[in-house]
Amino acid sequence: MKHAMLGPVLAVANQKGGVGKTTTSVNLAASLAALEKKVLLLDLDPQGNASSGLGVDKKDVKAGLYDVLVDEVPLQEAMLATGCDGLSLVPASMDLAGAEVELVSLARREFRLAQAFSAFQGERFDYVIIDCPPALNLLTINALTAADRVMITLQTEFYALEGLTQLLETIRRIKHALNPQLSMDGIVLTMVDRRNNLAVQVEKEVRDYFGAQVYEQVIPRNVRLSEAPSFGVPVLQHDIRSKGAQAYLAVARELIQRQASAMDDGGI
Ligand SMILES: Nc1ncnc2c1ncn2[C@@H]1O[C@H](COP(=O)(O)OP(=O)(O)OP(=O)(O)O)[C@@H](O)[C@H]1O
Ligand SMILES: [Mg+2]
Repeated sequence: MKHAMLGPVLAVANQKGGVGKTTTSVNLAASLAALEKKVLLLDLDPQGNASSGLGVDKKDVKAGLYDVLVDEVPLQEAMLATGCDGLSLVPASMDLAGAEVELVSLARREFRLAQAFSAFQGERFDYVIIDCPPALNLLTINALTAADRVMITLQTEFYALEGLTQLLETIRRIKHALNPQLSMDGIVLTMVDRRNNLAVQVEKEVRDYFGAQVYEQVIPRNVRLSEAPSFGVPVLQHDIRSKGAQAYLAVARELIQRQASAMDDGGI
């Protein structure tokens, strides 16, 4: 682990939009918290969907990730408690979109988040989860530079693999140049509908190619998962018995197990 008090740090990434990064970040974080882990969720996407999904409006955010990245405000000052026991949030703020531009001219621009982690003083977190924006931009590069592991979410559809080569190449380059400790956590298949032949075929292709890197547990398409953010809560608090809630709990258990069995050199 790169950071003694924070970790492992997991970046949830895919430059493709709408593939379940935020739904996974929020619900995996909440599930880990439900399993009595202490979890910190970072909303690194200017859209602020992870923040609003936990009931935080980025218009009301006084200090968020912009302030951490650009003005070096300590992480702990931007941290909020959430409605879930054990889950804290560093929200996106209105100006996070501007951070992308401002970071370009700052010193050690790829390491701003890593630096904030190194300077962190506070309680220990068992997991840190970073919800990345749908782009391979400086925000995502900051996440990958600060992370121990990357989780990729893939929607099982015809174009699922499009862009994946570029994502894996970017991860390799960052590992090589900026963050040698970075490893692959795994691939989570989202919005899976096994009644759909194409989805079944895509799942098979992904599993054949990536093998054990793919989580056994998949996330089914489930309306409760898409409803929960409008109530500002994770699905566990919206409908704990739903297939979506149970699937994210199972992914959280699998994550903990994978870590324990340390199959984690995670071939990048
Ligand atoms: N398993 C699921 N079942 C049903 N709807 C889902 C599921 N996962 C995600 N969704 C819905 O699909 C949409 C996209 O999901 P999400 O916001 O998690 O993707 P994203 O990768 O974070 O998107 P972006 O790239 O814009 O940040 C959202 O409306 C979300 O509620
Ligand atoms: Mg998102």
